[in-house]
Amino acid sequence: MSDKPIADKPLKSYAVWDAPTRVFHWVNFVSIIALLFFGFLILYRKDLSIMSGEAKLALKTVHTWAGYVLVTSLAGRILWGFVGNAHARWRAVLPNKRSLKSLTSDLGSFKAGDPIKYIGRGPMGRLSVTLMFILLLTQAATGLIRAGTDIYYPPFGWLVTSYVAAPGVDPSTLMPEDETYVDPERYALMKKYKIPFGNIHLYVAWTLLAMIGLHIASVVLKDMRQGGGIISAMFTGRKVLERPPVDEKEAE
Ligand code: HEM
Repeated sequence: MSDKPIADKPLKSYAVWDAPTRVFHWVNFVSIIALLFFGFLILYRKDLSIMSGEAKLALKTVHTWAGYVLVTSLAGRILWGFVGNAHARWRAVLPNKRSLKSLTSDLGSFKAGDPIKYIGRGPMGRLSVTLMFILLLTQAATGLIRAGTDIYYPPFGWLVTSYVAAPGVDPSTLMPEDETYVDPERYALMKKYKIPFGNIHLYVAWTLLAMIGLHIASVVLKDMRQGGGIISAMFTGRKVLERPPVDEKEAE
């Protein structure tokens, strides 16, 4: 924490997001935008006259590679929650009794135009980040399953090809969407079981789209009403407040 006054106001600058937290945040952001873009291209490909089998496969492949970037970044962020600075730790992310109790007073202070100041996440922030994590983990799990069943990609692709290959066929020679060398009964069963994972993947994609819109709107609104430079803090790692935050102790 630095005591240097900024301009003529008694502002204080506080260290909040450490470098790995910022890197994970922006890698997640970029990969999620790419995933939404290629995911909705897959969904609406026919409306966009993308008809060929190769184009469909290429879209799924690019989407899956973006998915691996997200999965790696999510895994890194999960681990960082055990070793990062006070604001990166899981105890500063997940809602707890105290944060749930102060939810109404926090919202009330925001509505009254005199918001309670936090360096880290406020009670609403904890809830929304936790919900976003749950949605992203669901999306990562269902995406990895669909990558295995749809294009035989890791980590489950080898399991799927070993199961659907016709007797005497080397599973590693199977090509996605080509039913020539598969056991028809097993292939039909695999297709039946992959449907619910695809449905969850699609519903969560729409929910995430809405959540991301809300997240961006709320940080912009919060920065306008409350100040503190919360958007630039995700680049610089520091927040600037004109009065001591209620979680000052955690920031020391
Ligand atoms: C923020 C994360 C993600 C979003 C928003 C997202 C979004 C989508 C959407 C909208 C679709 C089209 C669904 C449909 O056609 O019914 C899709 C399909 C697909 N996704 Fe994702 N996805 C995400 C993460 C992942 C991950 C992590 C992977 C795997 C590494 C993955 C693999 C796939 C595959 C293989 C398909 C094609 C499945 C099919 O044709 O139904 N996705 N995704």
